[in-house]
Order: sequence, then structure tokens, then C-alpha cells
Amino acid sequence: MKILVTGAAGFIGSTLAHRLLARGDEVIGYDNINDYYDVSLKHARLDRLRSHAGFSFMQASLEDRKALDDVFRKYQPQRVVNLAAQAGVRYSIENPQAYLDANLQGFLNILEGCRHHKVEHLVFASSSSVYGANTKMPFSVSDTVDHPVSFYAATKKANELMAHTYSHLYQLPTTGLRFFTVYGPWGRPDMALFLFTKSILAGKPIQVFNHGHHRRDFTYIDDIIEGVVRTLDQVAVPDPDWSGDSPDPATSKAPYRLYNIGSNRPVELLRYIEVLEDCLGKKAIKEMLPLQLGDVPDTYANVDALINDVGYKPGTPIEEGVRHFVDWYRSYYQV
Ligand SMILES: NC(=O)c1ccc[n+]([C@@H]2O[C@H](COP(=O)([O-])OP(=O)(O)OC[C@H]3O[C@@H](n4cnc5c(N)ncnc54)[C@H](O)[C@@H]3O)[C@@H](O)[C@H]2O)c1
Repeated sequence: MKILVTGAAGFIGSTLAHRLLARGDEVIGYDNINDYYDVSLKHARLDRLRSHAGFSFMQASLEDRKALDDVFRKYQPQRVVNLAAQAGVRYSIENPQAYLDANLQGFLNILEGCRHHKVEHLVFASSSSVYGANTKMPFSVSDTVDHPVSFYAATKKANELMAHTYSHLYQLPTTGLRFFTVYGPWGRPDMALFLFTKSILAGKPIQVFNHGHHRRDFTYIDDIIEGVVRTLDQVAVPDPDWSGDSPDPATSKAPYRLYNIGSNRPVELLRYIEVLEDCLGKKAIKEMLPLQLGDVPDTYANVDALINDVGYKPGTPIEEGVRHFVDWYRSYYQV
């Protein structure tokens, strides 16, 4: 298959592109390689992909309608996975405009491209952050999510709504994936595991928000990729049982689906740090701080829909996943 993967220089996008190339798909990567974090890491991820004959790459922004349309026209991708976005809860408090541009304007351009070029299936990244102020655990895709607590979350929820309208109006099959705190090799330097590893190895203090008491459904990158590939292969179809009298947010009369992809095993931040200390063979100096603005106290994914529809449940324990991350980090940075 010919698959357009946006955000291909990113953590999840580059890992997904690898997996698709390995199984013989043709991948068109699209990314603006912005400097939200270390650009050399993005280039290194792309270098690994460039050794595959089936990989092509375009450096441009989602907001650049002409560049994006040229890619749709030139390659005529059958399926699209939209992972390019301005990610991160905390940065959305500092720079909401970046989220409006990439996640709303950019996503509209993706929808238009998919519509006009008759794409068979659009899979797009949403986020566990859409659960916002919800406290009923585990979070289910059938829960309503109308109380986001960060602008980042609001843009991800908006993506789900935007996708649904295109599924309804143009019968474009779309699947939204709510990822839960992803970690692993080639990860993101702005995320906790990466920041902690760097500081612990340098003997510097780490900032532990909410005094380490929040729980996260940390999900290993390979588990995320397995979920993305399986849902990509299963084109969203209308749900014959869907009723407007009691509307299930996770499906529709239109070809639209939502899934959580999370480990379904929440872990307290302090335990996550303990596992990291074991893998590094070094203790952290912890600076205990309150919960950050925009952060939610706990996340916990109900993955029943994923199990029922594509027969998959993420399973990598953090002890194994964090060890893989540390091995990669030590080898990549030679520490
Ligand atoms: N990593 C997580 O824990 C997590 C959790 C929930 C959701 N997500 C979502 O998954 C997707 C991938 O996340 P990631 O962790 O790989 O992030 P990432 O930042 O590593 O990857 C995103 C990539 O998109 C590119 N990009 C950003 N804005 C762009 C634009 N306007 N045009 C073109 N390219 C652009 C960036 O250069 C980057 O390479 C994002 O949509 C993110 O919001 C990630």
C-alpha cells in the first residue's frame, strides 16, 4: 500500500514508518522538521528511514496547502496517518497559536486532501488528554469528553469532531487514536523519561510534579505502533447499531471510529522513576513540585474497543520498556 505518514521525523511517525516499510508498504513521509525540540534527533530518525527504497520524504508544513496538495497529487496515497501536530500539554499554555496553526488549520488541510484525493482511510492522532476533567476510570471512548483542561486537548478533541464531519459529509473513513503517554527508543526530549534520564546521568535534580503521585498509563512505543497498524488496516465502517437517541461518541452512522491505545495498567510517577533508577543504576535527586497547570492527575485507558475490533491489547511492562529506552539512550548519546 502507498501510505502518507505525516510527522515522519517525529517519535511515533518515524517508528511507524519503519514498521510499514518493513512489511513492504510504500511510505511518503511529510514533516516540517520544526525546532520544538532538538532537530538533529529528527534528522537522525529520518536518516534511518532513507535507507529503505520505498521511502520518500517532503519537508513542509501541514499549513502549506499547496505543498500538501502537491504531495497528494504526486503520490496518490491510498491511506493517510496524520501524526504531525504541535504536541505537548505544557507548551500549549505558552504558545497556543502554534496549536491552532498545526492542529486545526493543518488538520483541515489533511481532511481536504483526503477528501479530494479519495483516500481509503485516514487515521489520526488524538490524545488521552481529551479526557480532561473526567475522573471516571478507566477512561472509555464511549465517555463524553467535553471538559478539556488544556488548549492542546481542545485541539485534539476538535480533530475528532472535524474528522466526524468529513466522515459524515463525504463518507471519508476516519479513525481517531487516543494515545496514552508514549515512551521508548527514539522518544521525545520534552517528555519526562527523556528529561529524567538526562538529568539523572548528569547528577542534576529532576522536577517531580504533583509530588510524584499522579498515575499515567505509560505505553511502550511498539505497543502503540501495533495498535496504529491494526487500526489502519481495518478501514472504519458505519456502525449499524448507532442511534442518535443515545449517541455513542466512539462510533457513528458515518464511517468513523475512536480507540484508546494505552497499556491499561496505570503506574504512579514515583514507581516509573524507581524503574528508571534501576535501569540506570543511579538514584535521582528529586525536586518535589505541585501539579502543573493543564496536567491531569491520572490517566487510565479502557481498551475494550481495541480488543473487540482489532484483537489487540498493549502488553509491554514498564520494567521492560524503560530498559529498552535506557539501552537506546546510552547507545545514541554514547553515555
Ligand atoms: N508521544 C505521546 O505521548 C503522545 C500522546 C498522545 C498523543 N500524541 C500525538 O501523537 C502525534 C505524534 O507525537 P510524537 O510524540 O511523535 O511527537 P513529535 O513531536 O515527535 O512528532 C511530531 C512531528 O510532527 C512535525 N510537525 C509538527 N508540526 C507540524 C506541521 N505544522 N507541519 C508538518 N509537520 C509538523 C514535527 O516536526 C515532528 O517531527 C502527535 O499528534 C501528538 O499530539 C503523542
